Amino acid sequence: MSNFVKAAVAAVIASSAVAQAQAEDIKVGLLLPFSGVYAALGEEIETGFRLGLDTFGEGSGASFEIVREDSEASPPVGLAKTRKLVMQDKVDVMAGVVSSGVLGAIRDVVDGAKVPLIVANAGNDEATGEACSPWITRMSFSNQQVNRPMGKYLVDQGITKVFTIGADYAAGQQMIGAFAEAFKAAGGEIVGQEFTPFQKTQDFGPFLAKAKSSGAQAVYAFYAGGEAISFVKQYDSFGMKDALPLYGAGFLTSQLYVDAQGRAAEGVVTALHYVPTIDNEANRQFVEAFKVKAGHLPSEYAVHGYDAARALVEAVKSGATDRETLGAALQKTSFDGPRGATAIDPATNNIVQPIYVYQIVAGEGGAQTQKVLSQLPAEADPVNGCEMALIN
Ligand code: PHB
Repeated sequence: MSNFVKAAVAAVIASSAVAQAQAEDIKVGLLLPFSGVYAALGEEIETGFRLGLDTFGEGSGASFEIVREDSEASPPVGLAKTRKLVMQDKVDVMAGVVSSGVLGAIRDVVDGAKVPLIVANAGNDEATGEACSPWITRMSFSNQQVNRPMGKYLVDQGITKVFTIGADYAAGQQMIGAFAEAFKAAGGEIVGQEFTPFQKTQDFGPFLAKAKSSGAQAVYAFYAGGEAISFVKQYDSFGMKDALPLYGAGFLTSQLYVDAQGRAAEGVVTALHYVPTIDNEANRQFVEAFKVKAGHLPSEYAVHGYDAARALVEAVKSGATDRETLGAALQKTSFDGPRGATAIDPATNNIVQPIYVYQIVAGEGGAQTQKVLSQLPAEADPVNGCEMALIN
């Protein structure tokens, strides 16, 4: 079966001979996990990406051909697929990438080949820090960006002793690391820290026992995908939530998994750049359109895909047609979308966006929903060693 799926958009302008003469065929390499622990995330990002092309592509005069590749959550697989997309398929632009490990592995290939990459998830701090590249524009988040604000937030809640736990790979280490640094700077103490084998841990029991006896007032966690579902459920069934409230990076109780977590997720407080309950007009429109397309509420992964597609379409609308002009235009992305005001930071090519602290509460009909407790101001990451160049 062919991996090639064509998404033709902007047919509406076909009546204009001028527009037809300018029409471009943009080949997009969509690199996402379609199998493994992050498979559901990949599917959600693709749905958001296609919705974004449909929504914003009208009037662009371009058609977008998508070449899909499965990276799993595996750096070597992601690297091999990137080489194929860049060298064999000769894509004009790449989008996607869920795992920080995969982003680290493919960074030099896209930078060396000068292929623009719109990151639609992976938060790898280095990709917009010391290993930044003008060819890498991130429309999702950085690992430190979503966790740093929670350091002071917890101390402000009177919590000064925390046990941390997370998946043992780049994203887990960076997310927990950024939280711990900010928490200690605000006067908090990390009384215990565990990293669990990534994609291999089914039983969190032994780790939860350590948290219980650590003397902490709360636990701070990073998990995503299937691991987030089992961690939150086991945390609840261990009866830990009352004595040791659970905090974390907001992926932990993502809209994508909260139905599977059910009541076990209620009460958990986390921070993230998007939840479907954000109150603004662009989000209301997005939520409605996504529900029609996918049959469920959008998660942060859906918005990453949607906003990545919008950034691409806006680059094309500004006149970009090939790797170089697309790369240059992507660096200038800025729009108000479902998350609020978003813009690419010219110093790092990372997105600047508000961060929302939210709690999972009981919603209508037995479902769980996100109550936004606080909107923290948009914060650009420190440049972290990035020396950004403009493509032109
Ligand atoms: C990452 O590896 O950067 C990553 C994966 C899944 C998430 C967040 C970050 O939900």
